[in-house]
Amino acid sequence: MQSKITIAIQRKGRLYENSKNLLIKSGINFSANGERLLARSSNMNIDILLVRDDDIPSLVSKGVADLGIVGQNVLAEQAAANNKITAKPLLKLGFSKCKLAFAKPLNSKLRSLKNKNIATSYPALVKKYLIKNSITAEVIKINGSVELTPYIGIADCICDLVSSGATLEANNLVEFKSLMDSEAVLISPVTLNKI
Ligand code: PRP
Ligand code: ZN
Repeated sequence: MQSKITIAIQRKGRLYENSKNLLIKSGINFSANGERLLARSSNMNIDILLVRDDDIPSLVSKGVADLGIVGQNVLAEQAAANNKITAKPLLKLGFSKCKLAFAKPLNSKLRSLKNKNIATSYPALVKKYLIKNSITAEVIKINGSVELTPYIGIADCICDLVSSGATLEANNLVEFKSLMDSEAVLISPVTLNKI
């Protein structure tokens, strides 16, 4: 019998449906219904862990999961912030495409990031970008509703995910620079590559 493989996918959210469907299309039968956080495949020696997407890089880096499906944005941010995150992308999966981009209010005269306050949920990637471009600026970490921050006086601009662009538009923001493109990727512990 094949040894067991553990795969971590997002439990709820933007990656969930596509991740589940990809595993099912790959021939792995399992049901992920309700509140169950561990799904055992009925036809293969595979366990599916249903977790928060931000926990996937760490679970895979530690080898708790052999494979994971996560956004490149989450993997890149965690890898930039923590050298224990060593999980490696194996394959781009073609869904959950978006970009991480800087945006400012429509009426803003901002022309450069220099000495600006930048609100983001991706502080490590933004700091890396600023260092690479020799820009001094303040990075403010915020976990959600980043698009609100220019209007409550805590940021001049933001750096956040843009998918359809609807959230920027609804909040009178306009993108002025893209930092990275992202999509869902299959990741594995770095050690898998040594086999
Ligand atoms: C994400 C992201 C953007 C929005 C982009 O937010 O942080 O705000 O989606 O998608 P769009 O370009 O299609 O509008 P999410 O809905 O996950 O909420 P949160 O950031 O407040 O957690
Ligand atoms: Zn958001």
